[in-house]
Amino acid sequence: MKIVVVGGTGLIGSQVVALVRDSGHEVVAAAPSTGVDTLTGQGLAETLEGADVVVDVSNSPSFETEAALDFFTRSARHLIEAERETGVRHHVTLSIVGVDQVPDYGYYRAKVAQEEAVRGGGVPYSIVRATQFFEFIAPVMDMSTQGAKVRLPSTRLRPIASADVAAAVAEAAQGEPSYGVRNIAGPEVHGLDRLGEITLAAKPDGRTVVTDEAAGLFAGMPDGVLVGDDTAHIASTRYEDWLKQN
Ligand SMILES: NC(=O)c1ccc[n+]([C@@H]2O[C@H](COP(=O)([O-])OP(=O)(O)OC[C@H]3O[C@@H](n4cnc5c(N)ncnc54)[C@H](OP(=O)(O)O)[C@@H]3O)[C@@H](O)[C@H]2O)c1
Repeated sequence: MKIVVVGGTGLIGSQVVALVRDSGHEVVAAAPSTGVDTLTGQGLAETLEGADVVVDVSNSPSFETEAALDFFTRSARHLIEAERETGVRHHVTLSIVGVDQVPDYGYYRAKVAQEEAVRGGGVPYSIVRATQFFEFIAPVMDMSTQGAKVRLPSTRLRPIASADVAAAVAEAAQGEPSYGVRNIAGPEVHGLDRLGEITLAAKPDGRTVVTDEAAGLFAGMPDGVLVGDDTAHIASTRYEDWLKQN
């Protein structure tokens, strides 16, 4: 099969490219740095020519509400139109667990708009929703650092290794369209403040965690929304084990 991975140079995309290539498929990593821009449509028709499957693991360069909404709606529209024109038979999108339950959070609204464009786009599809990546914890901590204090709420997360997400996305890409959502999550639920403590215990840098329910990106999220439900596929990599190797 020819599989085009949009966002194929990113954290998830580069791992998906490697996995599907190892499985013997023809793979193209599509991104602005390889001449494909979903915002403008540049390079899409040529890249999708002869493609069986398109995987969209691109991300908005800005997390600000209007910019993210514009990115995900315009990109999804251009992509799906090009897929219809070139006869792509399966579109796989990576989204976020609980994304439709947090309407106050602009970036999540943008991801919901992306999912809706996929559902209504007329190309057979599968949506994989993942929880927060392990790789995302350190940047979230950095954003909430003041001096030597990392202020984090106790909002419960069930983070997952990006390698486990990439494996699930690669599996979806090589399977049949599900016309539905598959949730994937890591093995353990922790408050974000506890995840900060686990991180600093493994990699001490002089900072300490202060629980602050009003601080940072995940403050005020409805409890339980981000951890998924019983139907989620649970990946095996534990955060503490992953920290030892990363
Ligand atoms: N972070 C989390 O915890 C989390 C959890 C669940 C789901 N997700 C979702 O996972 C997806 C992938 O995230 P990631 O961390 O792997 O992203 P990332 O590392 O930031 O990579 C983003 C990719 O998108 C490409 N891109 C940017 N603008 C583009 C454009 N105009 N046209 C085509 N491609 C473009 C980038 O290309 P260049 O290299 O050329 O810039 C890069 O390949 C996102 O959609 C995100 O919402 C994230």
